[in-house]
Parts: sequence; C-alpha cells; structure tokens
Amino acid sequence: MKVNTELTPKEMELPSDYADRLGLIYAKESSDVDKKSKGQFFTPLAIAKFMASMSTCQSEAVSILDPGCGTGVLSISLAEHFKSINPELKNIRLVAYETDVKLIKYSQLTLAYLKEWLSQHNIKFEYILHITDFVLDNRDALDAFTNLFGKKLDSFDYIISNPPYFKLPKNDEKTKAAKGVVNGHANIYSIFMAIAAQLLKTNGELIFITPRSFSSGSYFQVFRNNFFKKVDIIQAHLFHSRKDTFSRDKVLQETIIMKCQPKTQGTNRNEILVTSSSGTRDLDNLETLTLPSNLVIEYDSADKIVFLPTTQREREIVELFRTWNGSLNKYNIQISTGPVVAHRAWDYIQEQPQNESSEIVPLFWLHNVSKMELTWPIEKPNKGQYIKSEQKSRSILIENKNYLLLRRFSSKDDKSRLIAAPYFSNAITANFIGVENKLNYIYRPKGHLDRAEIIGLGALLNSTLFDQFFRIINGNVNVSATELRFMPLPPHEQIIEIGKQLILGNSFDNTTINNLIIASFELETIY
Ligand SMILES: C[S@@+](CC[C@H](N)C(=O)[O-])C[C@H]1O[C@@H](n2cnc3c(N)ncnc32)[C@H](O)[C@@H]1O
Repeated sequence: MKVNTELTPKEMELPSDYADRLGLIYAKESSDVDKKSKGQFFTPLAIAKFMASMSTCQSEAVSILDPGCGTGVLSISLAEHFKSINPELKNIRLVAYETDVKLIKYSQLTLAYLKEWLSQHNIKFEYILHITDFVLDNRDALDAFTNLFGKKLDSFDYIISNPPYFKLPKNDEKTKAAKGVVNGHANIYSIFMAIAAQLLKTNGELIFITPRSFSSGSYFQVFRNNFFKKVDIIQAHLFHSRKDTFSRDKVLQETIIMKCQPKTQGTNRNEILVTSSSGTRDLDNLETLTLPSNLVIEYDSADKIVFLPTTQREREIVELFRTWNGSLNKYNIQISTGPVVAHRAWDYIQEQPQNESSEIVPLFWLHNVSKMELTWPIEKPNKGQYIKSEQKSRSILIENKNYLLLRRFSSKDDKSRLIAAPYFSNAITANFIGVENKLNYIYRPKGHLDRAEIIGLGALLNSTLFDQFFRIINGNVNVSATELRFMPLPPHEQIIEIGKQLILGNSFDNTTINNLIIASFELETIY
C-alpha cells in the first residue's frame, strides 16, 4: 500500500503548521464553487495565531469549542498558545464540529497529532469531533434566548471560530431553528455567533473572525440585540486592507476579529480596545485605541449599531455624529431603490428619444450620477437613456419630482462610497421619470424637497466627512437604503443653510463642499 507522506507530520512540525499545511492540500483538491457553497475559507496561520494570542489562560484545565473547525487551525493554535503562556495547564477538552466529510480525515489527523504533541508536554488532551451540523445540534442554545428555563447547556471556557459565511434560504432548518434570534433571511455566521454567546462560561472568552456586515444595518438588528444582551466586546481588530486577510482564497470581505466575554451581572463593560493593522504582515505592530464602550455600541437604541473608529480622528468623527439626533426618517424624507430593473424592462427602455406611439422620458442609471452632478444623456451600449411612459410601464416609473439620486454601489477603486447628484423636476415637462435599480432616490413622500434641502443633503452625503463616517460603520461597498434611513444627520436648519450657501456661491465642487462642511461643524481640529 502506498502511504501519502504529504499527509504525515514532518519531524518537529508544530501542530498548527501541520493543520495549515493540510488545509492547503485540501483547498487545492477542492473547487472554488464547492468551497463557496460550504462557506469554506481557511484562516491563514498568522491570523489564527493572532486570534489565539488574544486569549488569556491561568487554569489547570480548560474547555474549548471550535465550531466549523476545518483542519482545526484555530483551536490548535489556541492550545499551543496556552501551552506557551500557562505552565500550570494539565488538561484540555476540545469539542469541534465540521460537516464536510471530505475534510474530516484531515481534521482527525491534525487533532490526533495535537494530542501526541501535547502529551509530550505533559498536557492531557481529550477531543470530540462531531461530524454534524453545529446549528442543528445546538438548537437548545438558540431556544435559550427566548426560554430562560430551558435545558441546561454544555458550556466552554473558550469558543474560537471562523464560521461559514453564506445566506441561508428561508425554509432551511437552520433558519427555522434561529427564528427570533436572527432576522428571517439569516447569514449562517450570525447564527454561529449567537449560539456561541449562549455556550460561554461566566468568565469565558469568545474569539471570532467574521465579516463586518453584522455591525450595522437593519438586516442584523435582531441578531445584534440578542448577541449584545449576552456578551460585551473586549477587543475588536480591523484590517485596513481587505486584500491581505484571506488573499489565498480570493476573499475580499471586510473582516473583523472580536474577543467577547459574557456580560457581568447584566452591566456593560466600560471600555473596548480597538486594534487595527494593515493586513497580516504587520500584526505584531498594531495601532490601538481604547474607547468608551457606549461610543462603540449604541446600547440605548434598538439599533445597536457598532461604530469602530480605528484612529483618533475617526473617533472624533463618531463623537460628532453621535451628538446628532436627526435622520432622513425624522425629517420625513424617504429613500427608495430605483424601480427599473433593466433585464425585465427591455420592452420599455429606448436608446433614442423618438417613439411614435408613446411618450418618452429620461431613464437615469448609475453612470449618470457623479458627485453633485447628473449628466444625461450619456450614450453607452445597453444602457438606453430613455424609457417609455405608458400605462403598462407606469408601475416602474416614479413621479417627476425633485430627487437626490444616490449610487447604490461603489467599486473597490472608487475614492468615495457615497456619490449623489440632485435632480430637479423642472428639467423636463413630463409627469414621470425612470430610475434604474442600481440607484437609490431620496425624496419627500407627501410634499417636496426644495432646492436648498436637496443641495444641502447632497453636499453632506458627498462630503469626505460622511464618507469617512460611512466607512466606520459599514464594511461594505454597497450603500443600502435602510442604512441611510437611520444615518445620523445634523439639525434640519443646518442642512438647509449649507444648501443655501452653496447655491449662493454657485460652486458645487468637492473642495468647496468640504471647506464649507469643515466651517459649519467646526471641524478644524479633526482635519
Ligand atoms: C470559514 S471555514 C473555517 C474553517 C476553519 N475553522 C479555519 O478557521 O480555517 C468554516 C467551516 O465550517 C464548516 N461548516 C459549514 N457549515 C457548518 C455547519 N452547519 N456545522 C459545522 N460546520 C460547518 C465548513 O465546512 C468549513 O470547513
């Protein structure tokens, strides 16, 4: 029989190096589609070691949970870290979960090797590797959010995980099991986090690496409320460059590493340590910021947005925004997504302004919108600039009113995430206009936005100040309507005053806007 020597540990190989090596071998065998469907992106060793180093350990015996363990690189790095910092350590109990049967043979090899390695250092290691679904096996932990007198749960000193990330279908058993704990259409990683929050011992430590998307937006609101009822963030680590973190798996997600601990008798901790690095290479040279926890998490609001400034300047920006009580909602201003979905509306979209049988009105696309400027028409293949206004197309057209049009997507190369341009209804005589689906439009539902209001709001959204704030609360390149609905805004009169001043100066370029905003909010100390 031929033995695959690649799969056996090398002499003196550290268990974490071995887990990393087997992870690479497995990843090469597996297709990108397969990995994506299983949410399978292995943690690079440098990050695994960094996550492990965030934990503390003084006991003789500890228990670890590693849900979605892959080749076990996280729990193995944690065990190595404990061995190096705690000479008293005698016993480690590990419970790991992994559903991918093809991967299990690797996990079994790495955990068996860890056992051998630890026994050479006089540490007893017992482990259970469940080849079952972590979520379905832990329904009781999810039930515990609503049923305080439910079953007793197995709990752990440490829970370390890089959970799978993908959206679950509404009818998935896991979505059903997590009903009420996360929003209806859940991303599986938030369910892993919620379960972990329930399975932590009183002084336990939860260390997760996840996308940053849970930190804001209504989609994760229910999750945030439940999660932050159970735990506090002790440390949050952000990477400035998205490319570096999971580069070998071509993942461009903005990720966050969090260390959390259970709330102590229902009270919040006072401080949160926010660390950041450019990528993995400078993890030994962190930027650090200690922040009051109520600046980072909106404990008093139902939203529980997580603000994560990484520099003093960003901190001052968050502090400024947190003093504002306004929002689009409060000013009776709505934001909606353009109703024209091009592939369903080809019958109505026109390249040319002429049509004998119907009225033709403008159709605005993402590329028509730049900062404070709506350029139309712009000829581009398959991006007809006109749309028929007739009975059948009425449901996808909007009333010809004053709007602020805002791009819903920015590309990774765009300098700014928020790009908005005003549209004034007097530009045309028609009753309706078309707005394509990659744009949001901002308007007053019953009534209208006047010129100064639109210019003022447009200036704010296009400003560097708002762009920076938006990046602090959102790791995403998408600009969601819900997020903007609740974004803090300065007093209404101040928005109008900014608009009036810009109209008076008749200059709408970004330098003028930024200078005016610096003066209006007395930001000289920040910039
Ligand atoms: C993002 S990978 C991380 C793997 C490993 N922990 C690491 O850090 O390299 C998530 C792992 O969770 C596994 N997984 C996906 N769904 C799961 C489930 N419902 N229960 C347990 N494991 C699951 C995947 O097969 C994958 O190996």
